[in-house]
This record gives sequence, C-alpha cells and structure tokens, in this order.
Amino acid sequence: MTSEEVSSPPPIDNWNRLLDGRVAVVTGGAGGIGGAVSSLFAQHGAHVEFIDIDAEAAHAKEAEILAAGGSARAHVADVRDAAEVARVAADVLGAHPYVSVLVNNVGDYRPLVRFRESTPESWKEMYDINLFHIFAVTHAFLNPMIEGGGGSIVNIHSVEGMRGYPGEPVYGSMKAAAAAFTTDLAAGMGRHGIRVNGIGPDLTQTAQVDYIGTSVGSEHLWEAWAPVGRVGWPEDQARVALFLASDLSSFVTGHNVPVDGGTKAGGGWFWSPTAGRFVNRPKGL
Ligand SMILES: NC(=O)c1ccc[n+]([C@@H]2O[C@H](COP(=O)([O-])OP(=O)(O)OC[C@H]3O[C@@H](n4cnc5c(N)ncnc54)[C@H](O)[C@@H]3O)[C@@H](O)[C@H]2O)c1
Repeated sequence: MTSEEVSSPPPIDNWNRLLDGRVAVVTGGAGGIGGAVSSLFAQHGAHVEFIDIDAEAAHAKEAEILAAGGSARAHVADVRDAAEVARVAADVLGAHPYVSVLVNNVGDYRPLVRFRESTPESWKEMYDINLFHIFAVTHAFLNPMIEGGGGSIVNIHSVEGMRGYPGEPVYGSMKAAAAAFTTDLAAGMGRHGIRVNGIGPDLTQTAQVDYIGTSVGSEHLWEAWAPVGRVGWPEDQARVALFLASDLSSFVTGHNVPVDGGTKAGGGWFWSPTAGRFVNRPKGL
C-alpha cells in the first residue's frame, strides 16, 4: 500500500449501501432506537446480529428485516449478564470470524430513584443497565474487530451525560462514563483501525419514554421545548448511528454527538416551583 492509499478516505462505491457486506452487532436491537438502528443498517447492506432481552420483539424484528430483504439474526439475552454476553459473542463469532460494527445501545433511567433516597443496590442497578454491558460487549468483540482489519463502535448514551442533569445524578454519571469510555477507547484504538464515537439522545419517542403521550394538549409547546421544534424519532438517532458506523465518518473518532433536537444547545431542565420538581418540557413554571 502506498502512503497515499493509506492516507486517502476509503472509497464509497454505493451511497445507498453504506454498510454493504459488513457484520454489525447491535444491543437492544429489537425496539426503540436500537430497533431503528437494526433496520437501517440492514437496509444499508449489513448483516445485523442483534441482542435483545425481549424474545417476542426480537423475533418480530428479525422477521421484519428478513421480509424487507435484509439479513439479520436475533439473539435473546440479557446484556447485564457476563455469561450471556460470552454465549452470544461465541455464537456470533462462530458464524463470522470478524465483525466490523458494534452499537452499544442498551440503557435505561428506570427505576428512577432520587439520589437522597438511593441505595448501593440502586447505584448497582444503574451501573448494570447503563455501563457494565458496554465494557462487556465491547471487550468481547474488540479483538475480533481488530483482527478483521478494523471497524467502528458507536455507544448510545444520553445527552444527560453531557450536561448537568438534576433529576438523577447516578444515571447521569453512568452516561457520562459511557461518553468518557468512548473518547478514551478511541484515543487508544485508532492505530488499530478502530473508531469509537458516541450518541447522546434526548426527546426521542420510544417505549421507554413516551414524549407524545405525556404532551397531549401541549403540542404547540414543542417549539419551546426543543430548538428544532419537534419530538425526535428512533430513525433520527439511527441516521446518525449510520453516519458514525460507516465510512462517511472515517475521519471522526472519539466524539460524542448530542442527537437531541438542540436541547443541549438551547434547552434543558428547569425548576418548576408549582410542580415542585425539575421539568424539561415546562407547560408553565
Ligand atoms: N429515548 C430517548 O429520548 C433517550 C434519551 C436519552 C438516552 N436514551 C438512551 O438510548 C438508548 C435506547 O433507548 P430507547 O429509548 O430506545 O429504549 P427502549 O427501552 O425503548 O428500548 C431498549 C431496547 O433494549 C432492550 N433491552 C433492555 N434491556 C436489555 C438488556 N438488559 N439486555 C438486552 N436488551 C435489553 C429492550 O427490550 C428494547 O428493545 C438507551 O441507552 C437510553 O438510555 C434514550
């Protein structure tokens, strides 16, 4: 390889198939943001090996992708369990020696326990669902990614890890740690052909956060709540994940992108004296 080849951006042969022939692993890939990532990556030619704790949703997502002409396989597992992560990794790597994309997407703010009422058990719960599995799943696939010639890791955390989050600082800390892991891993792994970037979602309609249902009658306030003036959709997140996973972003690593309709830039949490709590979509203070 000449130095010019080494320093050139990788060619993109088909802009409609940005992940053609690549094997992608997605955690929580059956529903919500992860479900949209699985579908969009399959549409762009990836073979998607996704992991989800919800067996029914996982089989439905696999059937949906196959019916659309894509390639995917569902693994039913709990990524909080190291033995289950090892089992799925062995299964995936038994079928494909290399993977080139990994999206760590699982995470949850629930059960929400305010810090003053929190316990060592509730701190551990936040760690398990938001951070532990990012280490476990990344550790399981990193060496095979390097041996396969490199790849891209996308960690989906939260905009709450990128700003002050008054509601639940333990959740915010886990998300901030996921963002820091993203940057730190990227700094060490770039020379091994691995890029690592993160996405900090906000205001995205999923089963976990029903923004639409809780905004009925106040839809006109979206222009106040989010600078872009609307609720977000899982596809909004998936499009950025596609950018970060594909060669479109081949010169981007170590960054955390808020995909939040602008709330980090111009929105946030407000103390509501009438509600007696912090609100991110005030209907009146
Ligand atoms: N929706 C938002 O506005 C928003 C905001 C900030 C951060 N996030 C983050 O984005 C990510 C995705 O959120 P979402 O809103 O799509 O969530 P969701 O709850 O709607 O979907 C999560 C998916 O992961 C699966 N899952 C949950 N626990 C699992 C486990 N232990 N093992 C395997 N699979 C599991 C679920 O079955 C589901 O398919 C999370 O990390 C979340 O914290 C979302």
